[in-house]
Amino acid sequence: MKAEILRFLKESDGYLSGQQLCEHFQVSRTAVWKIIEQLKEEGYRIKAVRNKGYRLIDSPDVMSRAEIESLTRGRWAGAKVVYYEETDSTNTRAKEAGEKGKEQEDHGTLFVAEHQVAGKGRRGRGWESPAGSSIYMTLLLRPDVRPVRAPQLTLLMAIAAAEGIRKVTGVSCGIKWPNDIVLDKKKVCGILTEMSAEMTQINYVVIGVGINVNQETFPEEIQGKAVSLKQKTGMNIRRSELIAAVLKEFEACYEIFVKTEDLSELREAYNRLLVNKDQEVKVLEPGNEYTARALGINDAGELIVRTEDGQEKTVYAGEVSVRGVYGYV
Ligand code: BTN
Repeated sequence: MKAEILRFLKESDGYLSGQQLCEHFQVSRTAVWKIIEQLKEEGYRIKAVRNKGYRLIDSPDVMSRAEIESLTRGRWAGAKVVYYEETDSTNTRAKEAGEKGKEQEDHGTLFVAEHQVAGKGRRGRGWESPAGSSIYMTLLLRPDVRPVRAPQLTLLMAIAAAEGIRKVTGVSCGIKWPNDIVLDKKKVCGILTEMSAEMTQINYVVIGVGINVNQETFPEEIQGKAVSLKQKTGMNIRRSELIAAVLKEFEACYEIFVKTEDLSELREAYNRLLVNKDQEVKVLEPGNEYTARALGINDAGELIVRTEDGQEKTVYAGEVSVRGVYGYV
């Protein structure tokens, strides 16, 4: 009911009458008043005027289940949100749910945390996850596609993150293959996909996304590599709004992906965002390092590169990493 009341407040141009709310939800005036008080405590500025009702004056950067669900309503990605003030890792929480549930009904559930104490990055690294300024979220999916296709979902999320960021902040980010979102050659968002599958069938996939949103500084060791959206825009960004925007973009990409079961219809959008495209990259294969020109991804999400002797090669994510010739990008 809280998410619904919040949505009504957001959608209403003027005052929303308390009586209307009571009738709609079949509850007492006190019950409505209690929810309004809870919202105020969370930081919403709500004006209450006798005989007129309630009006939302300002929504701060509130990240809560009610706030996010009020923004994802009517869609499946993030329709259900599980929110933690603190948890180990939203990927771990989502995987736990993936193990327990078997039904399609948890497909699209979003796990969000204000603070992670054991945030995970790719290649066994950690992901620093202090409270107050970042997004840490994981989407649980039960896709009906072959397990070999699952890694491509990461690339869908990369498109969705870059597009969601652009729509909310106006900032154009790029993608460093396969799935880092970069801004001014520094990382603004990382994605970690994990899967449980049988030989021919996926049990579940979890896609974890960490976005640097309102940080003003970073610890010294990552200052040269990390950037936040606030550092770029000078503005505080509402994290819930950004979460909802990324999920909306992801949902659109996913609908296309499940039809084609590959990236054929998303490849162009991805390649447009790819910062490595037509750039010299260093390909770091285990035991083999070479320089090549990145041409873009193919329908499977692999990076096509042209080596110095003119040969075209396909680079698979997972075993290989790619760096810019002069640095990270
Ligand atoms: C990377 O190394 O680039 C991937 C980082 C992924 C971080 C996110 S934060 C939310 C989710 N939970 C985690 O523990 N990791 C992912």
